[in-house]
Amino acid sequence: MTTVPSALSALLEVYSRAGPVFVAGNGAELVADDGTRYLDFVAGIGVNALGYNHAVVRGAIERALGSGLIHVSNLYRTEAGERLAEELVARSFADRVFFCNSGAEANEAAFKFVRKWSGKPEIVAFSGSFHGRLFATLAATDRPEYRKPFEPLVPGIRIVPREDWAAVDHAVSASRTAAVIVEPVQGEGGVRPVDPEWLGFVRELCDSRGVAVIFDEVQCGLGRTGALFAYEQTGVVPDVLTLAKPLAGGLPMGAVLLTGAVAAALKPGDHATTFGGGPLVAGVALDVVRTIAAPEFLAEVRRKGEWLGGRLANLGAGGSRVAEVRGRGLMWGVELTEPAAPFVAAARERRLLVATAGPSVLRLIPPLVIAQRELERGVGILEEVLA
Ligand SMILES: Cc1ncc(COP(=O)(O)O)c(C=O)c1O
Repeated sequence: MTTVPSALSALLEVYSRAGPVFVAGNGAELVADDGTRYLDFVAGIGVNALGYNHAVVRGAIERALGSGLIHVSNLYRTEAGERLAEELVARSFADRVFFCNSGAEANEAAFKFVRKWSGKPEIVAFSGSFHGRLFATLAATDRPEYRKPFEPLVPGIRIVPREDWAAVDHAVSASRTAAVIVEPVQGEGGVRPVDPEWLGFVRELCDSRGVAVIFDEVQCGLGRTGALFAYEQTGVVPDVLTLAKPLAGGLPMGAVLLTGAVAAALKPGDHATTFGGGPLVAGVALDVVRTIAAPEFLAEVRRKGEWLGGRLANLGAGGSRVAEVRGRGLMWGVELTEPAAPFVAAARERRLLVATAGPSVLRLIPPLVIAQRELERGVGILEEVLA
């Protein structure tokens, strides 16, 4: 008999995993081992944009398996990665693409690329940021509790107040700064769309000082905000953009999109990864990107997002628990006046999965394919829980 272990005996305890053991998924629902179905407003932390068991992801995996090629290495050419890079270039500001395996890796690569391009050491990040848990990305992540036990972190990376015009003017130096990095919609830091006017100011400042702008769209990119790339909604075009979470339909993949100018600074041997852009993940990602980029798909995300934002805005109306509701597309944060974790647990008891983003923010990032009636059901549960 196969039994699911009741204790996490062999797994390193760096996560506080909660609740059910999931054994299946379909659409926007996860199924637990006792058959209970959960409506999922977490989507594998923004990964499962097409939900579970989507025909596009299944089909792409099956096609890739048919070729027998899962991995070949970057010593040789394979078709899927080249086609995916062309697709991302055709749909964005970028001229070149580098593939890796996660969001943190994409940002680490971006940091190396801008240092090489500029010949300068410093990276400026902003308060509320989350860019990853590796050494350089951790140095750019504004979470003291994540950073402290692992110091010293990578030098040359500083965090300055977000949306503070004077602070960024002071921090960005023509002689020392390689790049600034910013999430156009901050995720882990509380779901905050960053002021586009301030982003425009940062862009001009960086242009005048020979500094690159990196947009981290690991969480907010690829349709999440209702545009293929969140930068399209800001009026600001970056030099470098990082992607990961939803890119390969749940398979691990990251990407760095670069302008030709930055790309020209890199030569063979400057950076590498064994797995990056292999035929299985790239083949799946190609179909995921094409599906999300369809104008009617993005229009649906915007329509559902507007509806969700409208309903959430009313959440606070009845009581004092909700301090603010922020978001765009299908990426929303409900800032509470008290810790959010008990409400995550209460929602789970009612079979709705939501996440936190910092101590007092409930984060709602459902699959982009979620049905209107499922959104309504989820918001209904949230209303009950917050009543
Ligand atoms: C904006 C942003 N950047 C980077 C990362 C790190 O991605 P990964 O966990 O794939 O390393 C995350 C993860 O949550 C993220 O939200």
